[in-house]
Parts: sequence; structure tokens; C-alpha cells
Amino acid sequence: MYTEKVMDHFSNPRNMGEVEGANGVGMVGNAKCGDIMQMFLKINDEGIIEDVGFKTFGCGAAVATSSMATELIKGKSIDEALNLTNSAVVEALEGLPPAKLHCSVLAEEAVKAAIDNYYARKEGRDIECTCADCGHDHEHEHAHEDDESEEA
Ligand code: FES
Repeated sequence: MYTEKVMDHFSNPRNMGEVEGANGVGMVGNAKCGDIMQMFLKINDEGIIEDVGFKTFGCGAAVATSSMATELIKGKSIDEALNLTNSAVVEALEGLPPAKLHCSVLAEEAVKAAIDNYYARKEGRDIECTCADCGHDHEHEHAHEDDESEEA
């Protein structure tokens, strides 16, 4: 049912685990099967994926496809990684049973989610603004407005 390549990547997953200093982390899940995949990227200033790791809580095919996906994008540019399709992952694994194709989709999505997170961090999109950290005073301003509304 599974190719030797799939069994190999399932039994000896490559790049498993978190990456120290990762600057792009994405997590995706499939609502139907409940499997979850997390991808960690360490992207250097030249936009090259220096290191990559994954954590997959899911079926064997999900482990194999995430393992293969990390191999395919390691050392590649962000654009090359964005172009990684689930069919390229399946091809590299020399095939997957039709019922398991969605597992490879999860791998493609996890890579894209991690790259999106990398850009979000760069643009400051995901940086939560807390008064203590940023020096802003939003909460206090709002509190004062509320105080004054009825009682003043
Ligand atoms: Fe859902 Fe494999 S069964 S990812």
C-alpha cells in the first residue's frame, strides 16, 4: 500500500522537532481527521531556509509527507518553498494512496503557514501590543473614557 520511500520517511523522519532560533512557525490542521502539523523555519538575511523542522501529530503519511517537505525546502529560497506543491511531495515519495493525499496537502499548507508567519513577524503583524512592553497607554485611556462617560 505504501511505497518504500513513504515507509522510510515514516520510520526515520528527517528534521523532526523544533528548530532553535526559528523565525517562521506555522501550524495547520485537518478538521476531518484531526491531524496537526507544525513547521519551523530558520530563514537567513538572504531569504534562504537555513534550517527546518517539523512536529506532526497525525497519521504515518502525514509524518512522511512533512519529513519529505522539509527535505525539499532545506537550503532553498522562500520563493522556491512557496512553490512547493503537495503533488511534488507525493512525487518525491513515489506516490501515496488516494485516501492519503490530503496528508500531503497538510505538508504544503504547513510550509506556507510558516512562511506567512515569517513575513508577519518581519512586518510586526503578529506582535501583540501590551502597554508594559510598548509604552503605549491604550488601556488607561479607555478606562478614563469609561469613567468619565456617565459620572462626569
Ligand atoms: Fe489526516 Fe493523514 S489522515 S493527515
